[in-house]
Amino acid sequence: MNIRVNNTRQQFAETLDRAPAGEPERQYYFLDRLREVVEKKKAEEGFSATFHIETYGCQMNAKDSEKLCGILLKAGFTEVESEHADFVLYNTCTVRENANQKVYGHLGYVHSLKKKHPSMLVGLCGCMMQEPEVVAKIRKDYRFVDLVFGTHNIFKLAELLYDRLMSGHMEVDVWEGTTEIVEDLPAERKYPFKSGVNIMFGCNNFCSYCIVPYVRGRERSREPEEILKEIRRLAADGVVEVMLLGQNVNSYGKTLSTPISFAELLRRVEEIEGIERIRFMTSHPKDLSDELIQVMRQSKKICRHLHLPVQSGSTDILQKMNRRYTKEQYLELAFKIKEAIPDISLTTDIIVGFPGETEEDFEDTLDVVRQVRYDSAFTFIYSKRTGTPAAAMENQVPEAVVKERFDRLLKEVQQISSEVCGRDVHTVQQVLVEEKNSHMDGYVTGRMSNNTLVHFPGGEELIGTLADVYLEESKGFYYMGRREV
Ligand code: 5AD
Ligand code: SF4
Repeated sequence: MNIRVNNTRQQFAETLDRAPAGEPERQYYFLDRLREVVEKKKAEEGFSATFHIETYGCQMNAKDSEKLCGILLKAGFTEVESEHADFVLYNTCTVRENANQKVYGHLGYVHSLKKKHPSMLVGLCGCMMQEPEVVAKIRKDYRFVDLVFGTHNIFKLAELLYDRLMSGHMEVDVWEGTTEIVEDLPAERKYPFKSGVNIMFGCNNFCSYCIVPYVRGRERSREPEEILKEIRRLAADGVVEVMLLGQNVNSYGKTLSTPISFAELLRRVEEIEGIERIRFMTSHPKDLSDELIQVMRQSKKICRHLHLPVQSGSTDILQKMNRRYTKEQYLELAFKIKEAIPDISLTTDIIVGFPGETEEDFEDTLDVVRQVRYDSAFTFIYSKRTGTPAAAMENQVPEAVVKERFDRLLKEVQQISSEVCGRDVHTVQQVLVEEKNSHMDGYVTGRMSNNTLVHFPGGEELIGTLADVYLEESKGFYYMGRREV
């Protein structure tokens, strides 16, 4: 017995010694090693190498999960829909407290599954894991967890999982930060016809309520050639719509050795044949340039949708939030965009109950909502995040007051958006067909350039194509239509 353990240890040490130092070669090496171990384990009873990834939070996390999924498929795992799997991985979010609580709830459940199937592996990654208190809690109270890593080293999944399987102990590898961007690793797309593309990572804005800069690190842009290469490859593979992803896309390229603007990047993406639609997320109002507005205006491919988080309508609160614009500057920008691109759909994020928010401040938020008339708005109750400047601010707003304001805001937002969203009724619009309608047989669902959903009669063969659809009826947030052929 002892000899076998020593042998395994020695083999493990030799495997590590032989691993290439550079990336992505190192990860491809560990993918091969992991596949061998997984094959061996499959011969054991009770391990069929299935995996499930639970993803929380934003588009960045969704994109990260596609990368994690790509690695696991290459390593010989197969994906399943539920947590009844041999490897369950939680890709966590920590932007608000309720996102954290959900993960702990799931951990309780998965622990009960693991008790019945001890060979099961449980992993945690993503933003929550970048918080030292969280990792300390996992080590202490959730000892059944096998693997913990953060946002900076998701590309290392094959190596980490291999280490865990060989060592038999909880593997924890969380990096405080990184300057590294590892290119050319596998990724599995959720949709064959559309894809997110990271153009930058991290955030340097330090909005005072926000934990993102602490858990996703400093802003790093990918080289434009790497981005274009990836998009050309996607186009060759049948992708017609790309969503360029970054916490603050408007500051893309500023820190590269040869700086380039986001607008210029868009111009180059537009030239790629096969790509019909370009979306991007998220824009910070303080960095949105006139050049970008011009590029959007002239473009045939950039979608008529701009997500422009306002967060609050009060100049005083905006200053405390460290947003670096005033109510008036935001309104001026929103009107300028609407004037230049009249068919644009504007959406936003709003936080209610930031420390010190008075009734007057809140009225300013309502005023912005009424003036801009957003197509839709994501409304959030302020959530105190440990370590952010706002968490230490005085005058936290009482819960009942926040709740009351939140309800008033939601009503206003919904009323306006039901009026605004129907403006294209009785016109023909191009729709990218995304899926079979789950409620109505013989119908498909697609998205207009401005992101509004349209349901219309059609078959599965339309999925992934652009169809001209006559919008017969507006239902408030979506349309019913018929195909124009
Ligand atoms: N509390 C509430 N909402 C928050 N957001 C970010 N941090 C917090 C917080 N501490 C919201 C912002 C951001 C969106 C992604 O999440 O509105 O734009
Ligand atoms: Fe957070 Fe502000 Fe950065 Fe957005 S721009 S991720 S809200 S710090």
